[in-house]
Amino acid sequence: MALIWTNDWNIGIDIIDEQHKRIVDYINALENANMSTTGKVLQDLVEYTESHFAFEESLLVEAGYEFAGPHKATHANFIKRLNSYQADHERGEDVAAKLYAMLGTWLLHHIKRDDVAYVDAVQDNLQRIVTNKQEDGWLKRSLKVFFG
Ligand SMILES: [Fe+2]
Repeated sequence: MALIWTNDWNIGIDIIDEQHKRIVDYINALENANMSTTGKVLQDLVEYTESHFAFEESLLVEAGYEFAGPHKATHANFIKRLNSYQADHERGEDVAAKLYAMLGTWLLHHIKRDDVAYVDAVQDNLQRIVTNKQEDGWLKRSLKVFFG
């Protein structure tokens, strides 16, 4: 069954919520993937997730979040796990179902525990940074850098 976004997954920072929704779409694409399409779906998922993590980490540093370092380590750990699934897939293992189950659980847990924590800690800074739409502002520059 596909993951269906519900409002309690929102952390209240629109730009991050939109990116999380995109990741859910990528996770859902795995549900219908077969051995010949899993590699591509997985690659797209990893690339998008890496961009999102880099964007979010940069935002946390910009906002002065005390635990930006540990948060970044959690992301790195997750990417490592994804890479190991990629390796299993390349060795011919059918990883889609296992991966699909792990990803949904991980993402929801991460959003509700780790992401919500930074919003509570630096809410005012975050809102100021993400609502500054100036051409040379952090948001415009970072979207270009991390998402091309
Ligand atoms: Fe995060």
